Amino acid sequence: MDTYFVTGGSGFIGSNFIQLIHESILDANIINLDKLTYAGNPANLSKIENSDRYHFVKGDICDAAIIAKIFDDYKPTFIVNFAAESHVDRSITGPGEFIQTNIVGTYTLLNESLNYYTDLTDEDKKRFRFHHVSTDEVYGSLGDKGYFTEHTSYDPSSPYSASKASSDHLVRAWHRTFGLPVLITNCSNNYGPYQFPEKLIPLMILNCLDGKSLPVYGTGENVRDWLYVEDHCEAILHVVKMGTVGETYNIGGNNEIRNLEIVETICDLLDEIKPCGDGKTYRELITFVKDRPGHDFRYAIDATKIKNELGWYPKHTFKTGIRDTINWYLENDTWWEFIRSGEYRQYYKAQYES
Ligand code: NAD
Ligand code: DAU
Repeated sequence: MDTYFVTGGSGFIGSNFIQLIHESILDANIINLDKLTYAGNPANLSKIENSDRYHFVKGDICDAAIIAKIFDDYKPTFIVNFAAESHVDRSITGPGEFIQTNIVGTYTLLNESLNYYTDLTDEDKKRFRFHHVSTDEVYGSLGDKGYFTEHTSYDPSSPYSASKASSDHLVRAWHRTFGLPVLITNCSNNYGPYQFPEKLIPLMILNCLDGKSLPVYGTGENVRDWLYVEDHCEAILHVVKMGTVGETYNIGGNNEIRNLEIVETICDLLDEIKPCGDGKTYRELITFVKDRPGHDFRYAIDATKIKNELGWYPKHTFKTGIRDTINWYLENDTWWEFIRSGEYRQYYKAQYES
């Protein structure tokens, strides 16, 4: 029986990953350590909250004692580190939390993982993995041509991407210097169910439904490579199970799209599924606003390595994924209304601090 120690599992990708493990590996135990920042929402895991294979611990990855206790209590086979401050715009207005969680937090997890690993039997050492979930933003910005490969030099632009780059370097150092069996994945932009409505796609969907303006930064020409979150979670599982220790794998969706096209697609699909009435179209809400400082122009992933070595490739196209995502937000209004009203923070504060 495998035990997965997941950090940041109450956020967007972590909660999708935990649900995947819970559904697809029927004898797996899952521990979720999450600080429940504004982005952490236990409601993302309401379907499994009463499962005897799922255990939630509210806590910070910067807290060595809590991490040591989890290792001691649950003896995990794998640790998968999702916990991070993840929003680029917030890293520009307030970088401090990004340095603390993304760098100091990863360092603390690495140190405690090494303490645990050192005392494992030879048999358990062979199986243990520290998987670090990272981003393609560490590679900086591309022009019109070219792709990020696992050999592209790091060149981060924002406080967020610089903090993730630092964490990747720490993870590699703990492998090369101390022999901790690590894996790193660098992934492109995710979208799908349970994404916090501050990121481009859910923000635009909810602003359309509210009749609010749709703020497109600059001219909307920036390009991102969009990956459906289920595909990302399956890729991580492939790497945890089959990846070569010490290696990095890029994960991408083969879906390069300009931001303006993303917003227009959302508008057009909503015109079809839930028209705004009065003969108006959602595109009328598009507003061009001041650009993000240091805004990377283009991200594009070459995911050949993970395909050739581990047999993973994305199964969802953007055409089907974006329709499914819009339908998910339409069907789950209680989920996002709970967030938008701010009530979820009060509710869980009372629940976990009593
Ligand atoms: P998210 O912001 O939705 O969730 C982050 C989670 O981490 C939240 O539940 C939050 O409460 C928790 N957390 C934050 N600080 C913590 C701390 N100090 N201790 C414990 N828990 C803490 O993020 P996401 O979009 O799900 O991203 C997850 C990971 O994937 C991040 O490491 C991010 O850098 C990486 N990533 C994200 C994307 C993307 O498109 N969203 C793409 C590539 C990589
Ligand atoms: O590439 C992977 C990264 O993707 C992850 O590491 C990050 O955690 C994740 O947040 C995401 O970063 P981005 O900055 O690319 O995502 P965001 O959704 O914030 O923005 C996507 C693009 O849309 C970007 O070019 C900025 C633009 N944008 C964003 C918002 C929120 C707008 O034009 N208007 C907006 O209101």
